[in-house]
Amino acid sequence: MDNIMINVEDLRREYRRNSIFKRKRRVVKAVDGISFKVMKGEIFGLLGQNGAGKTTTIKMLTTLLAPTSGKCEVLGLKTFGEEKKIRPHINFIFGGEMGVYRRLSARDNLRYFSNLYLIPKKEQNEKIDRILKLVDLYDRADDPAETYSKGMIQRLQIARGLINDPDIIFMDEPTVGLDPVGARMLRDIIRELKKAGKTVLLTTHNLSEVEELCDRIVIINKGRVVAQGTPDEIRGSGETLEDAYVELVKGVNS
Ligand SMILES: Nc1ncnc2c1ncn2[C@@H]1O[C@H](COP(=O)(O)OP(=O)(O)OP(=O)(O)O)[C@@H](O)[C@H]1O
Ligand SMILES: [Mg+2]
Repeated sequence: MDNIMINVEDLRREYRRNSIFKRKRRVVKAVDGISFKVMKGEIFGLLGQNGAGKTTTIKMLTTLLAPTSGKCEVLGLKTFGEEKKIRPHINFIFGGEMGVYRRLSARDNLRYFSNLYLIPKKEQNEKIDRILKLVDLYDRADDPAETYSKGMIQRLQIARGLINDPDIIFMDEPTVGLDPVGARMLRDIIRELKKAGKTVLLTTHNLSEVEELCDRIVIINKGRVVAQGTPDEIRGSGETLEDAYVELVKGVNS
């Protein structure tokens, strides 16, 4: 079916860490056999505690990290092996300050990334202005990013993530560090992306954000899936999503 945008089956990723004791090597099973599918137009939440394996999963899906084993497909293509075909059609927004050039202005950052994505020069100015307005950076667009606040850098990251008009956008804790106005702006952008037929996979620790946005979620714990479904299905009868979440995660850890 061509509506499947992301297909993950029994996906695993191990990290090998050298211990301070020679010869002893610790293997961390960061992602330990997870499976899920994301359909076109869905807002899909990847949830789990710190260290559950969310960022590792997103790195594999965005072609930045090779899986140890299992199926990891985006747009029907292998994220490892066919990554060049995938990259023009996806983008990602990671929380924090990674991925923008602090010496460049917001406008020059976006021009730089437009060139990387081979966006025709004559389309660039109009596109960049539109995105700068969307993330409310238009007034400061020509100041160097190093003079921006944390939230402004975060909004520049969001702008960068939209520059190639991606079909799938991966967002790893995108509202971290944003004030309530910025967080709402991002949620509005996510809903607009969905309306435009885009697919969004996001991680967040904010469960009210999940209830507000996500069509379906998967909860992982220690690299394994512990629940998946709509927020309503996971909430069950009477409880809040937070109650259900805590029960699920506690149940697995005890
Ligand atoms: N480069 C690495 N080398 C070794 N271990 C790693 C590396 N990156 C992540 N890990 C380990 O893999 C596991 C999963 O980490 P990951 O960053 O995917 O979790 P996460 O769900 O994104 O957590 P958080 O909510 O804190 O962002 C953790 O045990 C982590 O310590
Ligand atoms: Mg993470």
